[in-house]
Amino acid sequence: MNFQDFVKLLRSRWVTVGVTLAATVLGAVAVSLLTTPQYQASTRLFVSTAAGSSLADTYQGNRFSQDRVVSYAELLTGETLAQRTIDKLGLNMSASALRANVSASAKPNTVLIDVLVLDESPVRARDVANALSEEFVSLVRELEAPADGSDPDSRVVVEQRASIPQQPVVPKTFRNVVTGLVLGLVLGIGLAVLRDVVDNTVKTKEKLEEITGTGMVGSIPLDRARRNQPAISYEQDNSPIAEAFRKLRTNLQFLAVDNPPRVIVVTSSMPHEGKSTTAINIALALAEAEHSVVLVDGDMRRAMLHKYLDLVGTVGFSTVLSGAAPIAEALQKTRFPGLTVLAAGAIPPNPSELLGSQAARKLLNELRGQFDYVIVDSTPLLAVTDAAILAAGADGVLIMARFGQTKREHLTHAVASLESVGAPLLGAVFTMTPSRGGSSYSYSYSYGYYGEDVGKRPSRTTPPPVEVLARRSTKITSDGGVSASMQPPEGAARPGKRRKREAPE
Ligand SMILES: Nc1ncnc2c1ncn2[C@@H]1O[C@H](COP(=O)(O)OP(=O)(O)OP(=O)(O)O)[C@@H](O)[C@H]1O
Ligand SMILES: [Mg+2]
Repeated sequence: MNFQDFVKLLRSRWVTVGVTLAATVLGAVAVSLLTTPQYQASTRLFVSTAAGSSLADTYQGNRFSQDRVVSYAELLTGETLAQRTIDKLGLNMSASALRANVSASAKPNTVLIDVLVLDESPVRARDVANALSEEFVSLVRELEAPADGSDPDSRVVVEQRASIPQQPVVPKTFRNVVTGLVLGLVLGIGLAVLRDVVDNTVKTKEKLEEITGTGMVGSIPLDRARRNQPAISYEQDNSPIAEAFRKLRTNLQFLAVDNPPRVIVVTSSMPHEGKSTTAINIALALAEAEHSVVLVDGDMRRAMLHKYLDLVGTVGFSTVLSGAAPIAEALQKTRFPGLTVLAAGAIPPNPSELLGSQAARKLLNELRGQFDYVIVDSTPLLAVTDAAILAAGADGVLIMARFGQTKREHLTHAVASLESVGAPLLGAVFTMTPSRGGSSYSYSYSYGYYGEDVGKRPSRTTPPPVEVLARRSTKITSDGGVSASMQPPEGAARPGKRRKREAPE
């Protein structure tokens, strides 16, 4: 992974990093708020020896004091002194509890000792520090007193008494927050990298093409507006998603030019990967190019097309197959010019059987005769056999993979199930790709509408994607097999321009 990949990874996993960072910073703030404030009072002790008359004596005395200072620092935090201080102040605490709050440090090469006392109360911190220091002066006097009653060799004076501390020294809120920030960043980045390593979803064009063994013919960006209104109004829409479907349409027209597919099944490995939404918009994009298109709901388990397009759902594919209605009566005109829909009809008890029947093939052939394109929405391949059955009888299959959701092994199995029935795979389509420009997986770049009257176009915040399109396609060979062929890359389509109708085969 180079630096650029790393930056892209962070941008695509910014939620993980952000949440971890927020959690650790909030944790640090909580720790600071929950910590009882502690105040610190300090005194300074000076250790002196009886001065000699000569320079050598003075030097010896000074060395003696410096050596003493180290032992005195130990005594200051000892049990004896703690108990004497408690007794003097009448404190209600144990000697070991007091010791835990006392520290003493001797400055190197000096005869000074700093005594620090921590306490929840600033006044008590001061009192303990002063009392402890005074008791220490007495203790040293007792310890250093020679047996013959002469002056002690060493004595301690309180050089600096404690005062009431104004600010608590604990909690250290700023230090805690900075620690939380650093910890959050390290943890967040670590988690992001880990998630990327264990991520087994399809996220790159290369992986998609490797698994499906076919070219990527489209990459449909995530567009929240599609949740409420799956169908794009191409007449007024030049949004990135509309452009993506126009590119997909153009690619479809490039696929297998000698034997252009006209009955196209749209499927995927698992539910909710955008099959129905994509099928609707492929059909609409083809209709925009003045082709006559029929959209067939081949998903008799979870029929959605009639809901997505506000049509009648009870009459459709299954109705015609059961002989309850002629095809002409089951077809429904939509509000979109050039698009006719055959809904799924009433849900039958045996969808797979019905879809695999001769009647189903005949019906699709009839539709092929009446329309330029027959786009068939279908079920997930790994859930039921319906899609594979439909795919086997189609001119071509488009397999959807939902970006960052479709698992690699699911896609592999889905492709295998298509291969097992000899279905001709036309190409793979990424659905719901992140539309944020910073995504590591976005294949788009921006271009402007030079010389256009911007006022006529809806405002756009993100540029339309121009796919680096798949150049491979599959086609049916004379012996019924599937072969790969190379196709020229598509030239940049002119957004919004309606295409001339191409003569049907
Ligand atoms: N490009 C898109 N941008 C945003 N949302 C989308 C897009 N495509 C599909 N969706 C949403 O994803 C959900 C599933 O879409 P859709 O019904 O098309 O999937 P499906 O594969 O047909 O599902 P099922 O397997 O249940 O038939 C829907 O809520 C739909 O609005
Ligand atoms: Mg569907």
